[in-house]
Amino acid sequence: MSKDRKKDHIEMAFNSVPSEQFLMDGFAYEPLMEAHPTDNGQLDREFLGMNFKMPVWVSSMTGGTEMASVINTNLAKACGEFGMGLGLGSCRPLLDDNNRFGDFDIKHLMPEAPLFTNFGIAQIEELVDANSLSEIDNITKSLKADGIIIHVNPLQEWNQPEGDRFKRAPLESIKAVLAQSSYQIIVKEVGQGFGPKSLKSLMDLPLAAIEFGAFGGTNFTLLEQARLLGDESGKRAHRNEFGHIGHSALEMVTFVNELRSDADKCQRFIISGGVKSPLDAYRLLQQLNANSVVGVASGFLKYAMKDYDYLREYVAEYKDCLLMANAFLKRV
Ligand SMILES: Cc1cc2nc3c(=O)[nH]c(=O)nc-3n(C[C@H](O)[C@H](O)[C@H](O)COP(=O)(O)O)c2cc1C
Repeated sequence: MSKDRKKDHIEMAFNSVPSEQFLMDGFAYEPLMEAHPTDNGQLDREFLGMNFKMPVWVSSMTGGTEMASVINTNLAKACGEFGMGLGLGSCRPLLDDNNRFGDFDIKHLMPEAPLFTNFGIAQIEELVDANSLSEIDNITKSLKADGIIIHVNPLQEWNQPEGDRFKRAPLESIKAVLAQSSYQIIVKEVGQGFGPKSLKSLMDLPLAAIEFGAFGGTNFTLLEQARLLGDESGKRAHRNEFGHIGHSALEMVTFVNELRSDADKCQRFIISGGVKSPLDAYRLLQQLNANSVVGVASGFLKYAMKDYDYLREYVAEYKDCLLMANAFLKRV
């Protein structure tokens, strides 16, 4: 060890004492049982009938804008290289025409990893009424995707000046899709999660997975308020309060553990919404008593907007942290 390093240690020791409030709890630290991880295969798991090389899902984000093509291309490359799944952002533009098809056409970059298309429950309801639900299967087929995500967002739609109104309970529209589609279906929220009744009603359906989209991260009810500018700003303040309700990922893990039974038709979960770090991800994965991966949206976004190498480095570090946690942190 160099003299400089020894000197640094002495000088910096007093400033490097962690405060007790930063102690991360939720797992037992077991430093004796394993070597430093070198085997990348340790994180492998089956999910949605495919092999994930790390238990991470890139949650639905973008499409239909100029930036989308770069972001989606980078995210798909990362999924191909690191063996993660990806949910596309809303494919609504493709219901109108094929102008933005290129933004979503990324399966060739991740041939072995699952890619799902994404449609809002409002569009699904319209398609059911128009007897043209086959359109979502056709789009999914043309993108060579492996399944379909339905996002359920009543608070976002209500808080959005140009938002849609649902004529029926979303559960009815979801059941219509399950009856007609030939694809695996995932249902998600967009940032406020599901309460126990909604969650259990989804667990009773033959869904491929339920994605939490829990409270604690990007929140579209608040985001719609932030879109109002100038004189309009603050006008919908009472509605804004609805942005502060919902269920966190941790609370939803507890719901699932309490509600789950082997008789449930849906047995897979994507824990997402406000998952802040790989350690946070690892803790949630350990706590859920079911087959699961963790979903991250905004955490990847800023790295996906630049060169692929920038995102690649971030995902590699994320994976390294998961490997370390897997070796030395055990369930309490
Ligand atoms: C820029 C952006 C766009 C999003 N677009 C969609 C979308 O089109 N469809 C959808 O189901 N969810 C969408 N979401 C919600 C995310 O999939 C996720 O549920 C939510 O952001 C919470 O995850 P996070 O805390 O990791 O960001 C979007 C999120 C972001 C940040």
